[in-house]
Amino acid sequence: MTILRARFATAITSAMGDNAPANPDPLLSPAKNPEFGDYQANCAMPLAKRTGKPPREIAQSIIDSLDIADIADLPTITGPGFINIRLLAGALGAGLEEMDTPALGVEHPAKPETVVVDLCGVNLAKQMHVGHLRATVIGDGLARLFARLGHNAIRQNHFGDWGLPIAMVTHAVKLRVDAGELSLDALTLASLERMYKDAQTNCAADLKGLAAVRRFGLGPKAEAELEEQVAGAEEHLGESKRALVSLQSGDEAYVRVWEKIARVTLDACFENCRRLHADVTDEHTAGESTYRADLPEVVADLESRGIAEESDGALVVRVDNEGIKAPCLIRKSDGGFLYATTDISGVRRRVQELGGDRLVYAVDARQGLHFKQIFAAARRAGYASHADGSDAELFHAAFGTVLGEDGRPFKTRSGENVKLSDLIDEAVARAERAVREKNPSLSDDEVREVAEAVGIGAIKYADLSSDRIKDYVFSFDRMLAFEGNTGPYLQYALVRIRSIFRKASECFGEDVASDARLDACAFALTEQKEKAIALELLKYQGVLHGAAETCELHRICGYLYDLAGAFSSFFAACPVLQAEEESVRDSRLRLCRLTGRVLEDGLGVLGIRTLERM
Ligand code: ARG
Repeated sequence: MTILRARFATAITSAMGDNAPANPDPLLSPAKNPEFGDYQANCAMPLAKRTGKPPREIAQSIIDSLDIADIADLPTITGPGFINIRLLAGALGAGLEEMDTPALGVEHPAKPETVVVDLCGVNLAKQMHVGHLRATVIGDGLARLFARLGHNAIRQNHFGDWGLPIAMVTHAVKLRVDAGELSLDALTLASLERMYKDAQTNCAADLKGLAAVRRFGLGPKAEAELEEQVAGAEEHLGESKRALVSLQSGDEAYVRVWEKIARVTLDACFENCRRLHADVTDEHTAGESTYRADLPEVVADLESRGIAEESDGALVVRVDNEGIKAPCLIRKSDGGFLYATTDISGVRRRVQELGGDRLVYAVDARQGLHFKQIFAAARRAGYASHADGSDAELFHAAFGTVLGEDGRPFKTRSGENVKLSDLIDEAVARAERAVREKNPSLSDDEVREVAEAVGIGAIKYADLSSDRIKDYVFSFDRMLAFEGNTGPYLQYALVRIRSIFRKASECFGEDVASDARLDACAFALTEQKEKAIALELLKYQGVLHGAAETCELHRICGYLYDLAGAFSSFFAACPVLQAEEESVRDSRLRLCRLTGRVLEDGLGVLGIRTLERM
């Protein structure tokens, strides 16, 4: 692709002379229709617009200047002016050889970027539920992808550990500890969650407050947050407010309880993350509480520069300059700060302290308006700019809702949120049954290890492989199937390739498939299925880059699935160990190795464990 692109650029320049753009881009992509070739260049249409000549004429003049006889057949033109290129088998082999290194031809950027990824986002005293699955695995996968491409990825778990609801539960726990009914050391997340809910339901909703929130149209997250905040009866609210003041002023007795609650919540969260093979730990956690000193300072800054203004006693930042009608509320009339205030401070910290060139937020799509508002407000305030004047890119990698088989948001029968740890346990238990059935020769320990990888891989893959922005239906049966676009299918594809290598050493000796030996074998691509898998392999880097640009991990999943399919067809059509000639066998073994490398690397980017056997 690199060579093709360079040759095309030269051809465009010489064909169009002064009319050529400064850095001509051939707009190369893998061919839509393999009947016409392996790649297509779509540049003739836009170039024709520049000159007013017919696109087919431009396409022909580019072909006339194009010097690619050493790597491809004579190009053809189809449709409005697509240029089709069919590579010579030798060129394909050379391309594969170039990519067949441990780095798989992924070059590191000349100037790595710092990408800050917001992920997980659990809340204090609450269990992780299925919604956090997406925020965790998509965020972690994106961070892995950016790191894989040579960027500096920083994870930020925006832990919801501050504000009035938090003070409320802290107060409730403290009362019981003080009364000797509860020991802090025996605190569990389940009991915390119960106390949190009790504290809420004991009080009647303050509907007036809620109506005011609705009037601002702040979106469901702010609404839910404020709903919780106003859910207390006057007295209870007063108590909670006093507790918040105590917390804010660092009252030791309160802080000790609050810290313990945070620890219990995070330990349970990190245990889920560990099982999910998602890298989220204390090091990546920056709770809302870590912004508490920044909030008054940021608000004062916005106020003094006239960016924030008063509205009905509250303080807002207008963002209609970016076409968003609802203003961003940053201080309530009672002086309290909001979710948005913290996130605006977050942009400032992530850009100006952490050096983020790109901020990515793996957060539920239902918070779309919130992110539009805080991005616009942060830009207005200059918080998304670096000291050298360059601007960071702010992006909400929004994801859809996980649905139950009835098409409604996934809930238990009794209407509760489904606990993430229960989901993980069930997936692993189901995987264990399937694995035992499929491979009775595995020991109990092996079964457990395989089941953990397969069950969790299945959940993650089902999540990552569906179009990020869309809702998807959670189905154990579908995600655990060994056929189709599933985690187990891809894990199994890799296991099959690994078993080919075990067999190869059995039949031909340890050395036959050693890296050193295969590195020296030439790719000989004569069969159509060999060419097809080669072309598929060559797409890998482009797929990674495309996925990183759009934050769409499902592109990687779709690609790996296609690759596994191309491999199956190749393997069915072309004998490897039984090949007649040694050079053919070696070339095919090397194709197997490269496919295995790409599958392993791709699954690694997605954070899905791979196995030797299953
Ligand atoms: N704790 C929030 C919630 O449960 C998610 C946090 C998302 N991240 C952020 N920077 N706002 O909805």
